[in-house]
Amino acid sequence: MKVSVHAAISLLKQGDIVAIPTETVYGLAGSIHQPSAIKKIFTAKARPSFDPLIVHIGHPQQLLPLVESFGPAAQKLAKEFWPGPLTLVLKKSDLVSDEITSGHKTVALRMPHHPLALEILMETGPLAAPSANKFGKVSPTVSSHVESEFNSQIPVVEGGPCSVGLESTILKVDESTDHIQLTLLRPGMISPEDIAKTLVSFKKNLQWQEPSSAIAPGQLANHYQPTVPLVLSFLKTDWNNDLHLQICKELKIEPSKSSPILWSLQEDDPRLVARIMYAQMRTFSERLETPPYIFLKTPKLLLTPEWSAICDRLNKASSLKIEQNNQTITFQCK
Ligand code: TXA
Ligand code: MG
Repeated sequence: MKVSVHAAISLLKQGDIVAIPTETVYGLAGSIHQPSAIKKIFTAKARPSFDPLIVHIGHPQQLLPLVESFGPAAQKLAKEFWPGPLTLVLKKSDLVSDEITSGHKTVALRMPHHPLALEILMETGPLAAPSANKFGKVSPTVSSHVESEFNSQIPVVEGGPCSVGLESTILKVDESTDHIQLTLLRPGMISPEDIAKTLVSFKKNLQWQEPSSAIAPGQLANHYQPTVPLVLSFLKTDWNNDLHLQICKELKIEPSKSSPILWSLQEDDPRLVARIMYAQMRTFSERLETPPYIFLKTPKLLLTPEWSAICDRLNKASSLKIEQNNQTITFQCK
């Protein structure tokens, strides 16, 4: 069900949840000040309570009451990249509930770059919003994805196709020591190089840390999965019948008559691929005759830094990975 911006604002103010457009993906929004709205988000998504939500703001000033401190490095990043696809994880204040952060002492914050999202946020105040899909599934990049995901049971604000199409970069910033400690919790279209460049003038050293499982609860290996299994092949050879039989065996499916989708990432610009990737995965899964799997022969390009966010999502979306080391071919099933 489509709703106007005006209707969305009143629904959100009364504690309901509404899907709103952002430049990355559509989000399932609820007021951070309404515990019932936060519960509705977790229930609608079937999201486990250990996976914290991102809080969206309409203006950097809305952030201040939500954090314990907003250090100079975090401020610089916000100034450079907001509104935009960067989520900052900072120490939270008591105003942010443990339900939103899943008990963590930090809160993830982002100011989205979409005029309708900003218009709504300026009226409602901060909104918690995970991607508007069932837990573990592909994120929605147009409003009809949200409608099919929730059988039209969730009101949606029409905002057109998302211009980025891939979820935001998530960066934890800790300025409490002599160093600026940075942890990339989820790669996105804003890269570690963009971040380092922005912080180059800081006297404190930058220290990049590896995420520990304790601080990246939602970074599960299975995520962003299309309904039809995705097979990632790093082989030099193309899809062929022998490979098909082996894939079916690994996926424990009958080698039926219907053929898989042979997918290729034709564009050589990662921004273009990011914009269309999720919509393509959904289209494949919605074919009249459901294909047994989607086979993606990954181009070499995918292993270069500019493609790391796309590579991350494809890895998480895949059910089977086929790799080749000299003569040895390995099949890795999830
Ligand atoms: O682009 C995006 O980020 C979209 C749009 C709607 O803004 N949102 C999105 O939300 O992708 P979601 O919930 O699908 O993914 C948010 C990720 C989760 O993996 C969660 O674990 C992580 O952010 N996260 C949230 N709060 C965190 C925290 N305090 N510490 C570490 N990770 C956190
Ligand atoms: Mg998500």
